[in-house]
Amino acid sequence: MYESDVINEESERTAFRKAEKKYKIYYDNTKKKKVPKPVDTSEVVDFSSILDKYNCNGEVGEGVSVLKCDFDRPVFCLDSRPGFYFIPGALSVEEQCHWIRESLLSFPQPPNRTNHNAMYGPIEDLFISAEEGKVLVSEERPLDRVDLETIVSKSDPGWKFVEESNRKNACNSVSASVLLRKLRWSTLGLQFDWSKRNYNVSLPHKKIPDALCQLAKRMAGPAMPCGEEFQPEAAIVNYFGIGDMLGGHLDDMEKDWSKPIVSMSLGCKAIFLLGEKSREHLPIAMFLRSGDVVLMAGEARECFHGVPRIFTDAENAEISHLESQFSDLPYLDYIRTSRININIRQVY
Ligand code: OGA
Ligand code: MN
Repeated sequence: MYESDVINEESERTAFRKAEKKYKIYYDNTKKKKVPKPVDTSEVVDFSSILDKYNCNGEVGEGVSVLKCDFDRPVFCLDSRPGFYFIPGALSVEEQCHWIRESLLSFPQPPNRTNHNAMYGPIEDLFISAEEGKVLVSEERPLDRVDLETIVSKSDPGWKFVEESNRKNACNSVSASVLLRKLRWSTLGLQFDWSKRNYNVSLPHKKIPDALCQLAKRMAGPAMPCGEEFQPEAAIVNYFGIGDMLGGHLDDMEKDWSKPIVSMSLGCKAIFLLGEKSREHLPIAMFLRSGDVVLMAGEARECFHGVPRIFTDAENAEISHLESQFSDLPYLDYIRTSRININIRQVY
């Protein structure tokens, strides 16, 4: 799903790629400090202001409609993208804080996998270790005593967190705070194998936590075929820091595309691009804010989509409502310059 850095010339010219380039972050090199260049967001659909207008006078504007359903908040649809649903502010501030905490504290815990598994094997307590200023070190192991079995085994004791003062004894080390900044994804429930781009049911896994299942079932409601209940089986949690983006892609590894992907945004505001079946079509750009929920079902499952930009500056991030909610500073520190996306899927 993550695009490789090598994007061939052909795809450089598609309408989707052009939109990604329009919205991605560029820096003004003439300034001493790294300052992002201003971006023209005049064509970005803003469902928060559509909601305000709707609440005020019942109007939603051209190309947008309101779904008739018994959800407790307005659910918006785009006339040109059947199967796509946008629920602005679907999560309360308390819910947003709760899922930000969970995303940092418990979702990256083994047996859930993260992008760090490939390099370091399973890592426990990443967030707490970063808070405590710990360092991940690999112990020096003389070659003649290394047995292949241990190297490939999942419980390879090669890497562990130690106090900063013990760093000097290690042959390799990386601080937990650096690893936290480089955390890009974790997978819940059935584990998605990024190298093969499919679900690997043989990998050990825990069920998706019950509270997240209940939330996803409730959120999926507006996009579900009448009388059916969404069955959350897997979730991918994406972590975005300054300058990170998610290239245009399709999520096509799930069996039944009539079932929605439930996608929740937390933290800094982002721009989401929703294309069509081909990258040649011009995508629609829209803002995603903390607490927004997006559903993609049916035809919308076949639409290219991605996140070319997140806004980490205080003025544009739009996360001031989270400031007073977090009593523990480390969460606030993280989320001030980050975005988290939890997307939940029914695989079978
Ligand atoms: C994904 C995805 C969208 C987002 O992880 O497949 O499309 O809002 N995420 O981050
Ligand atoms: Mn996706």
